[in-house]
Amino acid sequence: MTRYSRITGTGSYLPPRRLTNAELAAELATKGVETSDEWIVERTGIRARHFAAPDVSSSDLAVAAAKQALEAAGLLASDIDLIIVATSTPDMVFPSVACIVQNKLGIAGCPAFDVQAVCSGFIYALTVADALIKTGSATKALVIGAEVFSRILDFSDRTTCVLFGDGAGAVVLQASDTPGILASDLHADGKYVGILCVPGHVSGGQVVGDPLLKMDGQAVFKLAVGLLESTARATLAKANLSEADIDWMIPHQANIRIMQSTARKLKMPLEKVIVTVDQHGNTSAASIPLAMDVAVRDGKVKKGDTLLLEGVGGGFTWGAVLLNY
Ligand code: UT7
Repeated sequence: MTRYSRITGTGSYLPPRRLTNAELAAELATKGVETSDEWIVERTGIRARHFAAPDVSSSDLAVAAAKQALEAAGLLASDIDLIIVATSTPDMVFPSVACIVQNKLGIAGCPAFDVQAVCSGFIYALTVADALIKTGSATKALVIGAEVFSRILDFSDRTTCVLFGDGAGAVVLQASDTPGILASDLHADGKYVGILCVPGHVSGGQVVGDPLLKMDGQAVFKLAVGLLESTARATLAKANLSEADIDWMIPHQANIRIMQSTARKLKMPLEKVIVTVDQHGNTSAASIPLAMDVAVRDGKVKKGDTLLLEGVGGGFTWGAVLLNY
């Protein structure tokens, strides 16, 4: 019998401190940085973001989202035999957030590792988990996206600091006799390293270079729209399906204008696109599972729906997963 993988539970978590655009603008004004609710909403669709308290790490957010996903799947942490965390803002240089999450969940023994593909991280992590389940290496996986991007923002740069927030999303992916994940498509092109990066690193006990996020927003925007269209089409083709078969598109939540342009190119009505970016800004690898969990809990996404998850981010990396929920 063919072995498939399917999502059996979702969860998400946003830290309690929520800043509206107006609140952030007021805070930035005290540092001489000028922005406004009007500019942020018009250019990005973002209305608020959540920032984690200083003593809270990606693993804390990940554990909160994972517990919800486990509950939704009707599983205990001890049932899990694989943990993959997608993150670009790990608690430590090493070990991985996944190992820290494993310990915080009170389990041991199963493989646990991080995937670093920035905003495409969850798409990469889900594809890896799917492959490990299909080959029989795992049966019940926790796949998590978790970020504290507030730690790497340059609050003197208004072109980036208004865009990002902290959060986590998680899914339980289980072996199944019936198809859940139908197709996936992953890509990277390292020549674009410089348009979206945190160029600093640690050496000899010091941070060398700039450890804050740098982005050429317009270059990212232009690339993103084309790549999201091509990866969506490639993924559909692999499953012999068309845009008309998609019930919901769940894109990386970076900017409403990128989502609108992608939907237009794919001739999909905007009503079929899950949008949560207004509530939490760009949470990088967390954004897709976060948006998915919100849509599941809102009752929009129902069992049996065909979903197209897609993301694009630093690297440059991009990809999509088509699945039957
Ligand atoms: O996960 C992937 C991550 N990245 C993205 O998805 C980002 C992709 N890019 C974008 O979303 C957009 O390019 C931005 C939202 C970053 C910028 O929007 P834009 O429409 O491309 O604006 P722009 O860079 O062309 O800037 C327009 C103006 C500039 O002023 P001048 O030169 O026209 O006088 C900026 O200085 O807006 C100014 N500006 C701001 N004004 C108020 C830039 N940031 C701000 C701000 N508040 N926060």
